[in-house]
Amino acid sequence: MHTDPSRRRFIAAAGLAPLLLYGGRWAEALGRTPNTKPIPASGEALAIIGMGTSETLDVALDDPALPELGDVLRQFFADGGQLIDSSPMYGNAESVVGALLPKVDTKTRPIIATKVWTDGREAGIEQMRTSLARLGVERIDLMQIHNLRDWRTHLPTLREWKREGRIRYLGITTSHGRDHAALAEIMRGETLDFVQFSYSIADRRAETELLPIAADKGIATLVNRPFERGELFRRTRGLALPDWAADIQCASWGQVFLKYVVSHPAVTCTIPATSKLTHMVDNMQAGFGPLPDAELRTRMESWFAAL
Ligand SMILES: NC(=O)c1ccc[n+]([C@@H]2O[C@H](COP(=O)([O-])OP(=O)(O)OC[C@H]3O[C@@H](n4cnc5c(N)ncnc54)[C@H](OP(=O)(O)O)[C@@H]3O)[C@@H](O)[C@H]2O)c1
Repeated sequence: MHTDPSRRRFIAAAGLAPLLLYGGRWAEALGRTPNTKPIPASGEALAIIGMGTSETLDVALDDPALPELGDVLRQFFADGGQLIDSSPMYGNAESVVGALLPKVDTKTRPIIATKVWTDGREAGIEQMRTSLARLGVERIDLMQIHNLRDWRTHLPTLREWKREGRIRYLGITTSHGRDHAALAEIMRGETLDFVQFSYSIADRRAETELLPIAADKGIATLVNRPFERGELFRRTRGLALPDWAADIQCASWGQVFLKYVVSHPAVTCTIPATSKLTHMVDNMQAGFGPLPDAELRTRMESWFAAL
């Protein structure tokens, strides 16, 4: 069994050397099963912690950081991760996913999500074909219309591609609390498999309309920016974890932020992004063990509001 030297150094530094015996399959070694939620459109089980790729995977294919990014991806799958979210908007990220995936032993079936982010039917089709080539796949699991861009044009194409088996699920995204009224209208009027938007302990605007509509209509939800792009770590730097963190088996702030998001009943999966192996190890632990119940969620909200 081969373990990359950088990974070996990290594991040793973290005092986890015995787990090298298991080739990084920590969850398996510990006999733990990651939490999943069903995708309403199909009933397929989806691991609640996915992975974003914006900025973190936007490197050249000969970048010296590529081996560590391979370790990050390997850890994601070793801990039962499934869904990777990308976009043509994220520079070289789709190509990096495509280059790394064949080198990674995926215990769970990867669920590849990307987006169409352009105007016009033909340009959309061309962009989606390019995404397939860059990701190195024949079929995209989830194709999303990025930031609602030209959605009336792209939605019929996505339905056609789904009928033809070129995509399995279709959806629409937004972020930063933008366009909630427009997205809510689309969710009410169209049949969608997934929607994606921002939601975190510091930004709960999605609770007003988007999450209730998703629950009501049976639309799977992907939550982006669960860490407010890292801002939540700056707000909690140096602060000890509250006592209640142990009740939900959280050993870090990252796990607290992620468990808060995925414990909302209408959230299916969240997609934190990281370029660091240590952070991936940390984040994936949020996929295991108990989630906060409604009462603890309220305590977490009050605690955070008082910061
Ligand atoms: N409109 C859209 O469709 C849309 C918009 C925004 C985002 N998204 C998707 O959602 C994904 C997630 O959002 P995001 O990347 O904007 O923000 P995010 O996941 O909230 O935050 C990412 C930042 O958190 C840091 N981080 C991750 N894990 C950490 C840990 N355990 N400890 C400390 N720092 C940690 C990362 O830095 P390190 O690399 O140093 O770990 C990175 O700077 C994106 O990558 C993208 O796939 C979609």
